[in-house]
Amino acid sequence: MQTSPIGIFDSGYGGLTVFRSIADQLPEYDYIYLGDNARSPYGDHSFDTIYKYTLECVEWLFARGCQLVILACNTASAKALRTIQQKDLPAKYPDRRVLGVIRPTAEVIDQFTQHKQVGVMGTRGTVNSQSYLLEINKFFPDIKVFQQSCPMWVPLIENNEHLQTGADFFVQEYCRLLMAQSAGIDCVLLACTHYPLLLPKLKNTLPETINILTQGEIVANSLVDYLERHPEIEAKLARAGKKSFYTSGDPSAFDEHASVFFGEALKSEKMA
Ligand code: DGL
Repeated sequence: MQTSPIGIFDSGYGGLTVFRSIADQLPEYDYIYLGDNARSPYGDHSFDTIYKYTLECVEWLFARGCQLVILACNTASAKALRTIQQKDLPAKYPDRRVLGVIRPTAEVIDQFTQHKQVGVMGTRGTVNSQSYLLEINKFFPDIKVFQQSCPMWVPLIENNEHLQTGADFFVQEYCRLLMAQSAGIDCVLLACTHYPLLLPKLKNTLPETINILTQGEIVANSLVDYLERHPEIEAKLARAGKKSFYTSGDPSAFDEHASVFFGEALKSEKMA
């Protein structure tokens, strides 16, 4: 029976940038997007809190029939994914799968750096977890990783202030702090699914020679590959091309803001 939608989870709106690319590449499947807007941003929460919130949301998606859930959030991927995969799934949901965004990005990062020096910009949670450093060096020990946390970016983006001149200071400052770590950085990974919205400003701020990398397409390509390698999961996926959106916050506020991330108007429901 092909009844299972693919679940896509983020702390708030950011995962919609990844969902956009996934829906473009795999339009035939059904999807349920869940944004935990009532409790976002996750970036500065403790490991335990992020794990607890993420697991609750994953279980909510499982209860709605999702067999496969993508954590379209670097912070949740960094802090909760491993425990969910190693502890919760084997014990309670042996047939379900949860995938993150860090490993698929780390796996292909070598394609985007000539000098083998990568800058990673993310939330404090992602940067402090060292997940990118560890994952990238697992695949490519010769790549040097420089990290910069950008704690003001998600609040600016969530408040729709990111393209105003008021945002310039924080855009310039975090870029300066990253680039000061090494003149050889030639690839900057936006390791937070909110950050693609800052691209216009980042292109004007970072040196022209820098390859600025967003994750949407990378994660979508990796999902295509995953489904090819796992026909047993793919066979269960519903194929009516239906997209549903849920938020733990206020649906009308979500609808107003979400289109900036998703590139089209949408209608959400309250997570019940
Ligand atoms: N969009 C999320 C990420 O990719 C996190 C934003 C937040 O809740 O701090 O890390």
